[in-house]
Amino acid sequence: MKKNKTFLTKIGTPLFSFDSVTSTNDIAKKLAELDFPEGTAAMAGRQTKGRGRLERKWISPDGENIYVSIVLRPKINCNDIPFLSILGAVGVAKTIKEFYKGQVLIKWPNDVLVKEKKISGILSELKTNADNVEHVIMGIGVNLNSSLKNFDEDLKKISISLSIATGKKANRELFLEKLFENLKKLYKDYQKGIKTKILKMANDILFKKNKTVSIAVGDKTIKAVIKEINNDGSLRLIKDGTRFDCINGEIVK
Ligand code: BTN
Repeated sequence: MKKNKTFLTKIGTPLFSFDSVTSTNDIAKKLAELDFPEGTAAMAGRQTKGRGRLERKWISPDGENIYVSIVLRPKINCNDIPFLSILGAVGVAKTIKEFYKGQVLIKWPNDVLVKEKKISGILSELKTNADNVEHVIMGIGVNLNSSLKNFDEDLKKISISLSIATGKKANRELFLEKLFENLKKLYKDYQKGIKTKILKMANDILFKKNKTVSIAVGDKTIKAVIKEINNDGSLRLIKDGTRFDCINGEIVK
């Protein structure tokens, strides 16, 4: 069989490393626009304007955490982007598992939890032309070595770092190497059109599966039972016996 070059994406190659940036997503976006290949990544020691979903800040102190953004050029349309963030969350969860023996969960759409607290978040930003995706910047933040003093009072209650969970300092270079390796394998499957394995991994560790949650959808908050993540990345819920799929939302409780 003829080898398809796109199946060989090396996530994290080349890798640009900075002491301080506004946001690694800004840097990766520039690299994408300069035509750097798929897999190119930008990491930083700290971010002065780290951002999260829903226009939130991502607190990014200089403390040996992971702030990394990867340029991807998947042949997909915009509807497939949520699944790509699920892939990112699975990659992070798998990597954390290699360093921490306890339970690691994915909170839809793309948070990773340890001890039911947030350890990682993913922000996928994309450039499109018409309905085609030109590039996706997958930005990944992992609290590796943050201490609780890095978080403000509200965040303290809901955040954790790998070093807090394990009681020992995490090696950032090693973590990043494993993360790239895991993402590379998952992305290879994804490029081949194999989504089932990734989806199963996400659903096996889905936070609050089969439980009733409050979920903010648009300007409403509803109560529903979480069933599973669908293969487009949306969340299947059951409300009052009726099934519906949520594309954009936030589990609040
Ligand atoms: C979220 O949980 O809302 C997503 C957080 C994503 C944070 C990462 S850190 C690296 C990259 N650069 C950013 O500014 N954001 C992402």
